[in-house]
Amino acid sequence: MLPELITAVPGPRSLELAQRLRQVECRNTTFVSADWPIFWERADGVNVWDSDGNRFIDLTSAFGVTGHGHGFAAEALRDQSQHLLHAMGDVHPARLKVELCEKLSALTFERWTGQHGKILLGNSGFEAVEAALKTAALATGRNSIVSFEGGYHGLGYGALLGAGIPWFRKPFVGQIAPVTTRLPFPKIDDCPSIEAFREALKKIDGSKIAAVLAEPIQGRGGIVVPHETFLTELRNWCDQHGALLILDEIYTGFHRTGKLFACEHSGVVPDLICLGKALSGGFPISACVGSKPVMDAWPETHGEALHTSTFLGNPLGCAMAIASLDEHAKPETAELVAKTSASLDTALSTLTGLSQVHQIRGTGLMKGIELRHSDGRPAGDVAIQIVGKLLKSGILLLPDAPEGHVLAFTPPFGITPEEIDHCVGKIATQLTNHPC
Ligand SMILES: Cc1ncc(COP(=O)(O)O)c(C=O)c1O
Repeated sequence: MLPELITAVPGPRSLELAQRLRQVECRNTTFVSADWPIFWERADGVNVWDSDGNRFIDLTSAFGVTGHGHGFAAEALRDQSQHLLHAMGDVHPARLKVELCEKLSALTFERWTGQHGKILLGNSGFEAVEAALKTAALATGRNSIVSFEGGYHGLGYGALLGAGIPWFRKPFVGQIAPVTTRLPFPKIDDCPSIEAFREALKKIDGSKIAAVLAEPIQGRGGIVVPHETFLTELRNWCDQHGALLILDEIYTGFHRTGKLFACEHSGVVPDLICLGKALSGGFPISACVGSKPVMDAWPETHGEALHTSTFLGNPLGCAMAIASLDEHAKPETAELVAKTSASLDTALSTLTGLSQVHQIRGTGLMKGIELRHSDGRPAGDVAIQIVGKLLKSGILLLPDAPEGHVLAFTPPFGITPEEIDHCVGKIATQLTNHPC
């Protein structure tokens, strides 16, 4: 369905809610201005309705989480809510925790290596990253890590060790251990950046490194696809130096890039994989999945868990995640992503040649349009204006990259070619109206 605007955007109800929110929510969370945000009431498929009754097409899947109202996830939640809302995660857990861990093992390490994986569940994505970093410290007895410029792994203190966007670290840097070496992220088809990465890697004392933490495709960093040998080179380096390879697939996982996991494009098997976002399609649940030998670095517990949280293995989240994993295990899901991404590619290719469009890139249903001014400067100012104009015409889209100059597309898998063409047509109009 194409968007339908009933009132101005933001409408009076959203404006009123924004003012109320400003009184009670801490600054630096929801951005509020005269034109932003709208407040969501409900969603169905690719459509979102705001509090004023306006209908939008969501090209973000709400940060890559949801296909909106996926029948299977909603049904699982409804069913589970009749039986059990909460259990004792690491003491007397919900039965569904067992089932979810078995499924996660089956879809990752059992598929890749024939051996069981082991799982640490969490709530937010950053917790999965922190669980992986703790595992690496235990498994190697080392403290230091390698991460990448432009990388994003969430905002907990542990996850900030890996943050490659300085803005997120800066105010807290005095409380973050100086254990990270950040390398340039080598971009696809960019010889200087792979050379810079290799040179920087050579200078690292591998005997001190517990883990290399990387996204297979950077999301928040600006939908940056790495050089095709990147993951293989990391795998080899880790093997050579006894470090663990942690792949953060919180954004790229669950068919976002066309394969169940993005690492499968290169055939590289990580030691630890971090999952979240689309794992449940809408419930805050995450997982750090590792190979059995690596995860068995955690000592046996004698009663007091070394790593847990109140909501670990929450049965509602487990039920939604199980339903979602069952969907992902069906070949139809990959087929749908392939079909939809072909439509998106065709539509986006019509934007090539517009003066601000520096590059259109990405894999599967994770695409970005990099905008630059004619003098080469990142055009974050143009991107944010376009995003604002699109909101007013019923399209939800966000900019990514530290300079905010990449329009990021992570639409729900079921978006139709008609909806894609409509949105890309509106973007073309906006780009034409903003000559750099
Ligand atoms: C690659 C990646 N890792 C980790 C996170 C953090 O996840 P969460 O916000 O659920 O903590 C994100 C969130 O955008 C992400 O894109």
